Amino acid sequence: ALANLALPVGTTLDRYIMQRQTAFPYATGELSQLLRDMALASKIINREINRAGLMDITGSAGSGNNVQGETQQKLDVVANIRFIRALKNGGEVCALISEEDEDIIHTGNDNAKYVVAIDPLDGSSNIDVNVSIGTIFSIYRRITPVGSKATLADFLQGGDQQVAAGYILYGSSTILVLTTGEGVSGFTYDNSLGEYILSHPNLRQPRAGQIFSCNDGNEADYPIPVQAYLRQCKQQRLTGRYIGSLVADFHRNLIKGGIYLYPQTARLPEGKLRLLYECYPMAFIAEQAGGRACNGEQRILAIAPTSLHQRSPLFIGSSDMINQLNGMSLNG
Ligand code: AHG
Ligand code: MN
Ligand code: MN
Ligand code: MN
Repeated sequence: ALANLALPVGTTLDRYIMQRQTAFPYATGELSQLLRDMALASKIINREINRAGLMDITGSAGSGNNVQGETQQKLDVVANIRFIRALKNGGEVCALISEEDEDIIHTGNDNAKYVVAIDPLDGSSNIDVNVSIGTIFSIYRRITPVGSKATLADFLQGGDQQVAAGYILYGSSTILVLTTGEGVSGFTYDNSLGEYILSHPNLRQPRAGQIFSCNDGNEADYPIPVQAYLRQCKQQRLTGRYIGSLVADFHRNLIKGGIYLYPQTARLPEGKLRLLYECYPMAFIAEQAGGRACNGEQRILAIAPTSLHQRSPLFIGSSDMINQLNGMSLNG
């Protein structure tokens, strides 16, 4: 709370990062620069998204499927290229992984200390219909020696080792939500200034809420305890809200209180969402805001990762609601 007194609403992201730098786990300025690089890339994506309908960059990329077997949208490809370029040019990242690339991408900056996992464009299916989409990122300090090529081990450290995580929601306004492990802050993008401005200092997720969010069409596939929990939500006349962009669904529930569920399904027995660049960063943010995130058995952040694109069921949101769901699982 004290830190926030010094950082009033209206502070620019740059200034916030500068003032917070001393509190970062390694106060060398490199993480600060990396966060600025992420913000810059997101401004470029924001611009592309805003004019997507005019620039012939909606629709599928025609290049086939990505490593997930999903149809790549043109904006998936554009956003991916923009982020990779920004992180290469920025110089603070030795390697990254992206939803859109099967293998580790080496930036050529082997002396850099950080690695990044990104979902460049989250909510692809909403691009063509002008509904909110996002970007998700997760940052680790590398564990391999500086100067060498980053390896799988740098990316498979586990969620609790993240030094920073964030998302950008390209919604009715564009907002960047960030944690460096000391709470969560939200910055709204001011188009006219080209700056992110601190609008949501010290974001806290309400302990409970009135909203449940899942793809109801899959309900028959869900584990029995999850079905029972959803039945209870409906009996209590909670509100069902589901956009189909994780970033947007998560953000609404973060602000208003609620629970988001993406369980395992018949088609996707491991769940749909990807651990490294969807579940981990969102779980880090949720916990830092007082919420919770689990896979039905354990904390998301405690899951030991085994591969770059592995999936996980995700239950995330208000702590009381997650606790209640977990209670049903135990009894179910
Ligand atoms: P992405 O667009 O990055 O591939 O992610 C899609 C994810 C996530 O954004 C969303 O919550 C979920 O897919 C929606 O899945 P369903 O269409 O199966 O509900
Ligand atoms: Mn995708
Ligand atoms: Mn996604
Ligand atoms: Mn994506």
